Amino acid sequence: MPAPRLLAVSDLHVRYPENRAIVEGLRPTSDGDWLIVAGDVAERVDDVIGTLTLLRSRFATVIWVPGNHELWTRPKEGVPLRGEERYLHLVQACRDAGVLTPEDPFPIWTGDGGPAVVAPLFLLYDYSFLPDGTTTSAEGLEVAYDAGVVCTDEHLLSPDPYPDRAAWCAARVAYSRARLDACDPSLPTVLINHWPLTRLPTRVLRYPEFALWCGTTATADWHVRYRATAVVYGHLHIPRETWEDGVRFVEVSLGYPREWRARGRPDPLLRTVLPDQ
Ligand SMILES: [Fe+2]
Ligand SMILES: [Fe+2]
Repeated sequence: MPAPRLLAVSDLHVRYPENRAIVEGLRPTSDGDWLIVAGDVAERVDDVIGTLTLLRSRFATVIWVPGNHELWTRPKEGVPLRGEERYLHLVQACRDAGVLTPEDPFPIWTGDGGPAVVAPLFLLYDYSFLPDGTTTSAEGLEVAYDAGVVCTDEHLLSPDPYPDRAAWCAARVAYSRARLDACDPSLPTVLINHWPLTRLPTRVLRYPEFALWCGTTATADWHVRYRATAVVYGHLHIPRETWEDGVRFVEVSLGYPREWRARGRPDPLLRTVLPDQ
């Protein structure tokens, strides 16, 4: 049996039967493989937890961070929880399923490529990835609305009890900084967040205004500050690797069937984070 690996995937979007079939086929190659699931599993709580429970039955450790889709409140789901309450409900359901979340102690990967602190984060976005030519979030949003580029989060992702999503993001950034500051400074980290930690990956978006919903400039130096050996993210549905300051950034999404049918499924779908190849 091959040596255990730290693997990652995101944006499984199992609402689509084709994606659900792909997830049902996901298996480790070693009994010791860990799997990072970097958000956008599904919109419904039962789909999210059902999928993570299945993966947990196969992988030695499963680590989840929320994407925007998990945080949507839709009347037809029958789960009336909004914003932070919905997030904490998902966290508790993950714990019940034996799945690690951004609210749990960070595990240490001690397999090949380790030791490294594996840090799941939930940071959201704060409209600071501004469209070119704009200087404030308000101005940026105006340009986006004028262009007809508006993320569905504006209607479905409640910031309760925070006044807005930017305020929730600021709270998450402060919380996550404190957690990362408390990590053993002699160990490298693997930073995991649904949204990219830096602006660079958004430069290839087809609709550049969409970057407003893709991250925060508050984390621009975290890959250096927190000794990242790799940064794992999704959300963009553009699977690829980029390098900044010598650090590997890996977008690990599957994406919607219409997207992966057009360009071919990521191969392999489960990206190896550690050991670094
Ligand atoms: Fe997604
Ligand atoms: Fe997303």
